[in-house]
Order: sequence, then structure tokens, then C-alpha cells
Amino acid sequence: MNLRSGRFKGRMTSDAASYTSSLEFDHRIFGADIKCNLAHTLMLQEEGIISPEDAQAIIKALKTLEEDGLEALELDPSVEDIHMAVENYVTRRIGEKAGFMHTAKSRNDQVATDLRIALKEEILVIMEGLVTFIQDIVEMAQGNLETLMVGYTHLQHAQPTTFAHHLLSYSQALKRDYQRLEDAYKRVDLCPLGAAALTTTSFPINRERTAQLLGFSQILENSLDAVSSRDFITETVAALALLGITLSRICEELIIWSSYEFGLLEIGDEYSSTSSIMPQKKNPDVAEVARAKATSIQGELVTILSVTKALPQSYNRDLQEVTPHLWKATDTARDTLQLVHEMLSSVKFNQKRGAELAAANFSTATELADLMVREKQLPFRVAHQIVGRVVSTALEEGLRPDEITSHFLDQISLEVIGEALDIGEELVEKALNPLEVVRSREVPGGPAPIMVQECIQNLKNWMKNK
Ligand code: ARG
Repeated sequence: MNLRSGRFKGRMTSDAASYTSSLEFDHRIFGADIKCNLAHTLMLQEEGIISPEDAQAIIKALKTLEEDGLEALELDPSVEDIHMAVENYVTRRIGEKAGFMHTAKSRNDQVATDLRIALKEEILVIMEGLVTFIQDIVEMAQGNLETLMVGYTHLQHAQPTTFAHHLLSYSQALKRDYQRLEDAYKRVDLCPLGAAALTTTSFPINRERTAQLLGFSQILENSLDAVSSRDFITETVAALALLGITLSRICEELIIWSSYEFGLLEIGDEYSSTSSIMPQKKNPDVAEVARAKATSIQGELVTILSVTKALPQSYNRDLQEVTPHLWKATDTARDTLQLVHEMLSSVKFNQKRGAELAAANFSTATELADLMVREKQLPFRVAHQIVGRVVSTALEEGLRPDEITSHFLDQISLEVIGEALDIGEELVEKALNPLEVVRSREVPGGPAPIMVQECIQNLKNWMKNK
């Protein structure tokens, strides 16, 4: 049945038809569209709106299509979209009575329903991917509770920490990425079907029933809102863009840490490339591509925000142009998540280098100042000043952190505050030992192995019912 034959004399030009067609990306909602038609038709039958014979004929044809797959459809751009292609298919099989399927339904509520059905599945896949990633990070952390490394601020050595503590910072960010998707899911999981074009219908349809048949938790209460809104997409893509940022930042660290200068870790060969001219090269290409691809999710988000921002309520064809950006975002997020997960799991951390960097560059200075506060009741600012001078003098004299003695501290404190501190040598040594410093950070969230262990346990408990 040609949709245009009633209202128009002629066809669209083939350029205009291809230009406005959504068939290129409608394959993503093919399965959902059949489900939507099945539920709607069954409801029409149950409510006595169409005859059981017609309904059953339609349902049978739709089930055959479900089995035959997308190839069974005629996907000519003049067909406009998948909804018309499905209807045409049913018409080819059972004749004109296929048209009853469209009673009390518009493509406007249908496309919104299809998108929500398909998106729910995508979100669940990504959420599952996040949980397995977090699980693997937790395992990795468990094996690195005392693996030292230096923590940075401004990319300058700051304080000693452990690889486990650093890894768990990733898992916390990923947990929030999960929770954002979980939350967005609740608002995707609302059924627009029955809104019809915009104001529902005078047929006594049962919206609760179709929502239930399609596995939605509730219906969208306002029919105009049901066909107008795409914020469920915007919100999901915003969550994915943030996930992209988490993944991109992990990649950034893997890239710089695998450089010769850092030498902190090696990425598995399976996730590295070499150079066509420099035979020695091991390049972190997967991490670099992931870093760039994560950016494109931000681009999809900005496009979606911009397409929707000035639209009047109700269905506008502009909304169709949101859809490909949604699928690009979900595909990129899903694939990037998987690759970054695999790549991080392939990493070999260089424990020797980690310990060497943690001990090299006065990352224990804060603890030394804390020691003065604790032992000598100096105000922290005074201790800060003394230790600052200790470090600058040690640098001038070429002393390593582990060569600083209690006597050296006294010389400096005499200069700065006119008094010797007389702190026991053992205490000074301990404050300057990166592993001891890490062990002493027993505050919740800190890098002390027992605290990291607690954090691991909390994450495991959280994951139990995921
Ligand atoms: N292809 C359309 C889309 O993706 C389906 C809805 C068409 N509705 C309409 N009134 N032309 O949004």
C-alpha cells in the first residue's frame, strides 16, 4: 500500500526520498518494531477493537517476519522507514487487512517505543560490561596491595601510594558510570505506545497492557510528551560520554606510563602496534584510538542536544536525525569499554620501577612534616617550611631522601626556627620510607592495604546483586 496515494499526486524525487529516509539505521529497531506491532495487535484483539481472525493473521505474518529476518523486507528508500516496510510485508502476506494493525497507532508513538525497547537492551549490555570490568580491576588490585608507586598532582611526584589504590580509583569512577546508566534506564523504561500521533485515540485501547507485554515498567503519562521527548536518549548519551571520559583517562595513563621515561608498565603485545620504519617501536595504538573514539561520544551528545533544543512539542522529523547519533554513541561506548577492559587486563606493572619512583623524589615529604607536628607539636605550617628547606638543601647537596638523618633535620630547623627538633632516627627513617607511609594511611579511602582491602570488599558486596 502506497502511503502517499491518497494525499499526493506523485512520488517524492528519489533524492528527496533517500535524503529523508531512516532505513539506513532503522535496522537497529527491526526486532523492536515487530515486538511493538505484536503487542499492539494482541491488545487490539483483547479489547475487541479488531476481530480475532484479523489479529491472528497479522500476528502470524509478524512472527514469520521475525523468523525470516530483515532480508525479507523491501528496503527501498521510497518506503520511508522500517515501520512502513514492516506493514508492507504484512500486507504482501495477508492483503489489505494488514492495515488493521495500524488502528490507534502512529509511527510517532511506534518509533519512540521501538527506540526505548532497543536502547534498554544496549544499556544492559554496557552495564554488564562495566561490572565485569570492575570485577577484573578489583582482582588486579587484590594482587597489588603493596605494589608501590608514586602518586602525582600536576603530574609531579606528590605522595607514595600503591598500584592497588590507583586501580580502585578507576573502579569507583566506573561504578558511578554504571549507576548513571542504571538511573537513566529507569526513564528509558517508560512506554509511549498508545500516544498515537500526539493525542491518543478514541478507540478504547489498553496502554497498560501493551506496556506490560513489552516489558516496560510504566506508561508515559502525557501523550504529547510521549511522542515529543528524546531526553531519555540525551540522558543516556550524556552518561555514555562520561563513561568515555573515564575510559579515555585510563588510556591516557596507560600511554604515558608505558613510555620509557615512566617505565611503569607494559601493555600486552596484543594491544600494541609497531612502526613501519622504526623496528624497535611498541606503540600503544589501542589506547590512543580509544582515547580519540571516546571523544566522539561527546560529539554525539552535543549533536543530540543541538537537534532537540529548539524543537516545538510533538513529533518533528528532526527527531529522526537524533537516532543515528544514539547508536554511534552506544556502539562506541560498548566497544571502547570492551577494548580498554582487555587492554588494562593485559598490563604488566613494573614493581621495581614503581618502588624506585616512590622513593626517588621526596614524595614522603608530607609525612616528614606530619611527624614534626605529631612529635614536636609544631604547627603544620612551620613544619611545612622546615621540610621545604630540607628538600631544597638536600637537592642542592645531592642527598637522596633516604640519606636524610635526624641530625640533618636539626641543622635545618635551627636555621628556620632557631631550635633543634631532636626526633629519633628510627622515626625519621620510617617517615621517609614509602611503604611505611602508605601503610600509615589508614583513613577510609586511603592507600593502606587494610583500607584498600575494605574498599575491595565493599565493591564486591556492591557487585553481588548486579
Ligand atoms: N523514521 C521516523 C523516525 O525515525 C519514524 C517516525 C515517522 N513519523 C512521521 N510522522 N513521519 O523518527
